[in-house]
Amino acid sequence: VTDFLRRAADLDAADSLAAFASEFHVPEGVIYLDGNSLGLMPRHVPARIAEVATGEWAEGLIRSWTSAGWFTLPMTVGDRIAPLIGAAVGDVAVGDSTSVNLFKGLAAALHLRPGRRVILADAANFPTDSYMAQGLAALVPGVTVRYVEPGQAAADALADDVAVLLLSHVDYRTAQVQDMAAVTAAAHARGALVLWDLSHTTGAVHCDLTAADADMAVGCTYKYLNGGPGAPAFMWVHPRFARDVQQPLAGWMGHAAPFQFTRDYAPAEGARRLVCGTPQVLSLSALDAALAIWARVDRAALFAKSRAMTSFFIEAVETSCARHGLALVGPRDPAQRGSHVSFDYAHGFEVVQALIARGVIGDFRAPSAMRFGFAPLYLSFTQVAQAVEHLRDVLDTRAWDDDRFRTRAAVT
Ligand SMILES: Cc1ncc(COP(=O)(O)O)c(C=O)c1O
Repeated sequence: VTDFLRRAADLDAADSLAAFASEFHVPEGVIYLDGNSLGLMPRHVPARIAEVATGEWAEGLIRSWTSAGWFTLPMTVGDRIAPLIGAAVGDVAVGDSTSVNLFKGLAAALHLRPGRRVILADAANFPTDSYMAQGLAALVPGVTVRYVEPGQAAADALADDVAVLLLSHVDYRTAQVQDMAAVTAAAHARGALVLWDLSHTTGAVHCDLTAADADMAVGCTYKYLNGGPGAPAFMWVHPRFARDVQQPLAGWMGHAAPFQFTRDYAPAEGARRLVCGTPQVLSLSALDAALAIWARVDRAALFAKSRAMTSFFIEAVETSCARHGLALVGPRDPAQRGSHVSFDYAHGFEVVQALIARGVIGDFRAPSAMRFGFAPLYLSFTQVAQAVEHLRDVLDTRAWDDDRFRTRAAVT
């Protein structure tokens, strides 16, 4: 293990992104391997939140809708996300949750593909993706949800009745990365659209929606983008659909002229029509501040660091914990891997709790995956090597085998 610590020191010394770590708050004694669930807080954000509350809200009041740019926040924040996903400025709207945006996107896709009534969803999708599809199908007569079964290639499940394929670019358990361009081409060849969930992609994994000729995408902003708990999600639709796309939650804030108070809905130009009601100004402001960092990030270096870090972690775990039979879940090829790593282990839940008790925070995904996230923007290789040392110790000493590590809370 000391060998890994030594190698980690060398890798850290060569890390061109190392300075970003000081821009984030890390609680005392914590090694945070959960930036793929809720990212660290950027140090400058609380002051910005306070400023918005005391200045824009308390003093500016309703005037701030214009003077502080509240009204346009869904689009200006979207402009900061656009380069991270290969979208053009002006084409990304931010607001609502990922779940709500999935609903909007699926319904819009059904509308764009009249006559096709099947939503094809990856059975391995994050549950909310399938749940939203099921909820929409229950609402719209004739619409059904079909699944890409485990082991089946999405392209093989396509059929002429499929309106939209719903897929995560990076799988939340295995971190498998989909070939966005290839899947999109296969779907288009069968006349279907693809709605991508980029929640585990954005801010850690290369993604170019435009180059892949993608149709639609949504994603959350509280993971690698560090927007904070409950930060609003983003939504993108390819500009070729700009005039035709109809999202079902036709709220007044996506109207062409909300303050004319007309009876009938008329969608705004472009991505603004993806907005529903009043923007979540406080959370959008926190996200806006958090996203300012990204203008300074060398994304190629970031993606390379993510791959190097997950590879380093896998090698360190498989070497140091070899006798415990941990099974890697997901791809070995770093080019096919997102920024987290899962290991299956029968006592995975207890092991993760024992690690958390030592300040090494990862998470557990039922039934048996210990999942560790590597936010390349602020993690160091030394922290990764130290975390592996803790994991080895917890396993070697069976520290996990304790009643206090068996209680399951509502959030794992
Ligand atoms: C792939 C994916 N989609 C969606 C979500 C959550 O959706 P929401 O932001 O609506 O809670 C998550 C949460 O971790 C996720 O991993």
